[in-house]
Formats: sequence, structure tokens, C-alpha cells
Amino acid sequence: MAITIALANQKGGVGKTTSTVEIAAVLTKLEKKVLTIDFDQQCNLTKNAEADRNLPTIFEVFKEEGVDLNKAIQKVPAGYDLIAGSPSMSRADKEFEDVQDAYLLADLIEAVGPDYDYILIDTAPARNKLLNMSYLAADYFIMCVDSGEDSIDGIDAITTDMMKFHKPGKRQLSESKIMGVIVTRFRDTNIGKAVIEIINDKIDNEIPSDIKTENKPFIMTVREAAAVDESKMMHKPVQQYKKSSTPAIDYRNIVDEIISRTEQED
Ligand SMILES: Nc1ncnc2c1ncn2[C@@H]1O[C@H](COP(=O)(O)OP(=O)(O)O)[C@@H](O)[C@H]1O
Ligand SMILES: [Mg+2]
Repeated sequence: MAITIALANQKGGVGKTTSTVEIAAVLTKLEKKVLTIDFDQQCNLTKNAEADRNLPTIFEVFKEEGVDLNKAIQKVPAGYDLIAGSPSMSRADKEFEDVQDAYLLADLIEAVGPDYDYILIDTAPARNKLLNMSYLAADYFIMCVDSGEDSIDGIDAITTDMMKFHKPGKRQLSESKIMGVIVTRFRDTNIGKAVIEIINDKIDNEIPSDIKTENKPFIMTVREAAAVDESKMMHKPVQQYKKSSTPAIDYRNIVDEIISRTEQED
């Protein structure tokens, strides 16, 4: 059964999509079977990965009866599988009102899980029903933050929301845990170091043990480099565009860490 990881932060522009693409590319290179799900109405993952946008999207899979899930799954040029995002997901809070709808993503993952080693969810920058679905579907959360205060506050928001789904006796019970934090666009400056300290303190003192892995969640950095934006222009993971660049190296280290943590628990 696949290990499902959601990349999250309700703030936009903090590296969720970049991290999804890079982690997927490295895992694929290591011959892991990977499915990515574009859960953001902006569809950046779908566009970036050059996915075919004529296939059924995640919205149709959730909303329309009789959509063949296998037809919604496509292999993208970078070599991993993807379910495309949809602008209609902006209406998620209205469209997925039933109590049972909270399990749409969990059910999908249960159906395709046996076919994959890893499933990555590129979440939207919003605290909405879609994020709630992710709490019920993902084994792990990896938070992405840049050095901005809002993005660090995003850790608190996820902590609060996740705890709501971890209450004993709660009908919708989540088992997902925070596995780590990726500090993206990292610069080794005083600010960079301070950010790591703040996150470390949050992990030790503010994130309840119910929602973090027993093995202390990691804090790993991805250095800032122009290669990331260049690779986007080329519609390629930086792993393929410039393997020797610092972000490419950093994402390989992150994947090593993810593998060692997840395969250890198996
Ligand atoms: N390590 C990095 N170095 C330089 N630019 C980066 C790095 N990581 C992400 N970016 C850039 O930051 C912007 C936001 O990243 P993105 O992954 O789209 O964030 P999100 O999905 O959280 O909105 C993009 O333009 C991306 O190319
Ligand atoms: Mg994104």
C-alpha cells in the first residue's frame, strides 16, 4: 500500500508545487512508483508537469458518477503519474458539503494505493474542505515554508486544524502526522538560521505529539537558486534540468530522508 504525503501550507508561493515535482522526480528516478494529485485550483502542478488537460480531472473524479479513475491517471513526461487539477476546485466548499464527502480523497487513495509506493498531494493554499480531506487521507504531512512570517504561521494553522481531526471520539478521525518541514528558497543568513530555530522550537514545544511522528520531524532546507525558475520555464524538474544545482542536491537529500523514515516504519 502506498505511503501518502501531503505537501502543505495555507500560504501560497512557499514551494509546495516545486517540492511535489522534485520529490516525485527523485522517487521516480529511484524506481519508486509515484502518483501525484493536483489538489490546487490554480493547477500549477498540472501545468508544470505538462499534463494532458483533456482528461478527467480530480474534480470530475469526485463529482461525476461513472468517471473511470484509470482514465484520469496519466503518466507525465517526467515519468510519474498524475491526476490533473481543476479550476472548479475553487468551489470545493460548496460542492463537497456532505459529511461523507470528507472521505472522497481517502477513498480514492485506498482504491489506487496498491499500485503505488508513494502518493503525493499538492495541496491548495487554503484552509478549506480540500485540506480537511487531506487530513483524512494522508499518512504524513510535510510543511513547506519560506522565510516569511506568514508561512511560518502556517505551521500553527495546520497544527490547529489537524488536532481537530485527532480528537478521541471524533467521527472523522485522522491518523496523519507531521513528518517534517522543508524550508524552501533557503539562504544561509542570520534570518535563515533564525527561521530554523523558530521551526525547531515549534516542533519541540507547540506541535502536540499526537500529530507528529515519533521520530522527531525533520527540518531540511532547499537552497535558493535560479535553476528552479529556469527549470519551470523548461517544464522540467530541476532534477532533470540541472542535476548538479543546489536545489536538485537538496531535494535528493530530502527524498533519502523520506525513504529512510517511511520504509523504516513499514
Ligand atoms: N529553491 C528555490 N529556489 C528558487 N526559487 C524557488 C525555489 N523553490 C521554489 N521557488 C520558486 O518560488 C515560487 C513559488 O513556488 P511554488 O512551488 O509554486 O509554491 P506554492 O506551490 O507553495 O505556491 C516559484 O516561482 C518557484 O519557482
Ligand atoms: Mg502550488
